Amino acid sequence: MTMNEFLSREESIFSNPDALDPDFVPKVLPHREDEQKEIIYAIKPLIKSRSGGQLLIKGQSGVGKTVSVKKVLRELEETEEADDITIAFVNCWTTNTSYKIAVSIANSLGFRFTQNLNTSEIFDKIKEIVLQRQGIVVVLDEVDKADDYDFLYYILEVIPKKSLIMITNEMQWGSNLDLRIRSRLMPSVVEFKTYSKLEIRSILAQRVKYAFYENTWSEDAFENIVDMAAKYHDVRVGIKLLKSAGEIAERDSSKKVMKKHAEDAISKTENFKIKSSDSFTEEEKLILNVCKECSGQRIGKLYDYYLSVGGGKSEKTLKRKLESLAKKGVIDLELSGEGLRGKSSIIKYRGLEATKLSDFEKKEKKEKQD
Ligand SMILES: Nc1ncnc2c1ncn2[C@@H]1O[C@H](COP(=O)(O)OP(=O)(O)O)[C@@H](O)[C@H]1O
Ligand SMILES: [Mg+2]
Repeated sequence: MTMNEFLSREESIFSNPDALDPDFVPKVLPHREDEQKEIIYAIKPLIKSRSGGQLLIKGQSGVGKTVSVKKVLRELEETEEADDITIAFVNCWTTNTSYKIAVSIANSLGFRFTQNLNTSEIFDKIKEIVLQRQGIVVVLDEVDKADDYDFLYYILEVIPKKSLIMITNEMQWGSNLDLRIRSRLMPSVVEFKTYSKLEIRSILAQRVKYAFYENTWSEDAFENIVDMAAKYHDVRVGIKLLKSAGEIAERDSSKKVMKKHAEDAISKTENFKIKSSDSFTEEEKLILNVCKECSGQRIGKLYDYYLSVGGGKSEKTLKRKLESLAKKGVIDLELSGEGLRGKSSIIKYRGLEATKLSDFEKKEKKEKQD
């Protein structure tokens, strides 16, 4: 049998696997109607070439913040009266400095000659272009992950005819910004509450319809996954598990996703890892791997190894990162008395499960209190 024959014989249970991608935006977003209205409200004035609102969207991860904004932006793109409104969608985790954010907004406006300009000059250029347009929607997703906040000052002060939408997982975000920014930042705040289990079930059921052929899910397999997502109050966890359970069922040549496939998916993805792998930067992941390799050693040894595998930061920075990883619970730093250069720490790797277990426990406690 050739590869082609093999592939064409294979019957898939996925009718549209794209519907399980993290970027997929469903046609309808149940349970977020009011929140979408708030987003529309912040953007609407732009259609009349007036200044739009500032919106701060808060809520924990997997509650539909990003997808709700994207959904409204889709609608905006399809609105004829909004033809000349530019959308600048920036993820501040990957685009994490004021300069990079300036470049990204300029690019969204079709301006690419940013090489010889500094941040302030790029924002002047942005202003010039927006003045000739209907307006601009600037979305700053994961805004709490940015390294500096000068860009907020520029956006607020320099860009005309704008709607500014900021999204954050951190409930307290904003209170530490410097006064220069805080005095210009007066957003309406929309808090995305966590979904109830019932809501999570209906959202996941909808996603199953989008992504799988009919009758490919046994009820208890589906319920298992709903349980997990509800435990974490996180739809993203549920969608990842739908995908992975589907793949496991296919590998098993099963025409249906059965309970054992769901259970397999849950233990395989180590459910805790689902979220934690998203919540570390590339640098942190590198350092974590170094800690794993050098568990039980002193920082000095660890630093040598870190350099040998391509790490580029100073020993001081490494120490700072280790402290922050220790706070997250994935490693332990134990002080040892002896070292030649005085006290030094011994690093013990605990693993990604450690954070998630503690998060998990926190949530369970919270549930009991509620
Ligand atoms: N109301 C909803 N209807 C359909 N899918 C949803 C809904 N809320 C969240 N999702 C899905 O759950 C996942 C996580 O949502 P997302 O917007 O990325 O969360 P957040 O930005 O709050 O972390 C995405 O795949 C998204 O499509
Ligand atoms: Mg998001």
